[in-house]
Amino acid sequence: MNAAPEKPPESTMRASPRAKRVRGWWLAALALFAILLLAAFGWLPSYIALPAIVAVATLMAIEIRFASRGMTIDAAPRLVPAAADPTAGLVALINALPEPALLVDRTSTLIAGNVPAAAVFGRIRAGEPISFTVRNPQIIEAIRAAASGRTERFEINERFPAERALEAHVAPIVFAHELPELFLLSFRDLTQEQRLAQMRTDFVANASHELRTPLASLLGFIDTLQGSARNDEKAREKFLKIMGEQAHRMSRLINDLMSLSRIELGLHLQPQTRVDLARIIAQVCDTMGSLAKERGVALTLKREAQEAFVLGDRDELIRVFENLVENALKYGASGKRVEVTLSAAAGEAAVSVRDFGPGIAPEHLPRLTERFYRVDVEQSRAQGGTGLGLSLVKHILARHRGALTIESEPGKGAIFTARIPLADSGIAKTEAATAS
Ligand SMILES: Nc1ncnc2c1ncn2[C@@H]1O[C@H](COP(=O)(O)OP(=O)(O)OP(=O)(O)O)[C@@H](O)[C@H]1O
Ligand SMILES: [Mg+2]
Repeated sequence: MNAAPEKPPESTMRASPRAKRVRGWWLAALALFAILLLAAFGWLPSYIALPAIVAVATLMAIEIRFASRGMTIDAAPRLVPAAADPTAGLVALINALPEPALLVDRTSTLIAGNVPAAAVFGRIRAGEPISFTVRNPQIIEAIRAAASGRTERFEINERFPAERALEAHVAPIVFAHELPELFLLSFRDLTQEQRLAQMRTDFVANASHELRTPLASLLGFIDTLQGSARNDEKAREKFLKIMGEQAHRMSRLINDLMSLSRIELGLHLQPQTRVDLARIIAQVCDTMGSLAKERGVALTLKREAQEAFVLGDRDELIRVFENLVENALKYGASGKRVEVTLSAAAGEAAVSVRDFGPGIAPEHLPRLTERFYRVDVEQSRAQGGTGLGLSLVKHILARHRGALTIESEPGKGAIFTARIPLADSGIAKTEAATAS
């Protein structure tokens, strides 16, 4: 509950009594002088002048008595707020708040809203009913409850202009001992918090699921080898091969998860070694040559810049490009061609990996870098994928102060582009190399 606001200090609430007193003395002295002057020239009969002098002197004596008690003649205690309009002060206050806040009156009419509120609710129009801005019946109920002095707190979900979960807080504003005429609606955005909680739950569920499948298969084969296939040499060979593959899959998954958390921990630490991306991608294309051959895909490397120095961690960058090229060879094999291009311009190196396979539908694009997200889970699993590759790519690039962009048109393939800022001297070197 909100406590009634404290009475502001006297000095801020009232016009200065000292200034009033000085003004009063001057007026009285002036009146006395005028009466004496008029009497001296004979323009004022003494039967009027004398009582007038007595009256003014009495008034001055009374003033002296009250002044000695620390009061002025018109000193009836009266609260005069520092700002003429208290609402203006409140509007200024909510404009200074970092969280979304709205001010409404007893009739649930919107009086004002701050910039964060406009970002959440889309539009703030003073004079409109609050329900035009916050489409939630609980708000009106809460204002009603707040009118009797209660503070309300509850959660609401807004769908427009974007989907958000908010904690709403409706509090009455009480001046002195009057009934509340104004209400402060403040909000806390819970969207990110809830999204993170959901991601944590999904992560645990996905990781356990990914480990459980190969583990179940291993346990099954161990049973078979101990039972029916105990003396079957051929079956044993076959099963041991599958068991080895499954164990590798589990080990890869755990390694990927550990890499992810290690990279996340060091996300704020930008690598400081100068490495040449041209050499790194040449090495990756060499390593991937055998997989390309196996898949019947022509893998080509085009260098628009002869060298591109960036501040980087060599092993992590190899991992980025291996992942992108491997994906292109695995999921875009039907296009028969994968092109890797290195370019450097405007202080930035860009490596794009383009395939001509089936491409990716637009609704999947924003989610591809989420952990365990796969367009086709079975297809990915069949290829030994864990769904962590692009998540690793995104985190490694973030550590390098770079970014990943994905473009795709279904049926025409996909282009994954990694951009990393060039190391300062690297820009000069690349330009010199291109010029020569
Ligand atoms: N070039 C591509 N063409 C079509 N789909 C792709 C392409 N690259 C990635 N994808 C889709 O994105 C998903 C996520 O890719 P990611 O690299 O994160 O995981 P993965 O390849 O399945 O597993 P991992 O990389 O751990 O082996 C893939 O499962 C696939 O569905
Ligand atoms: Mg991958």
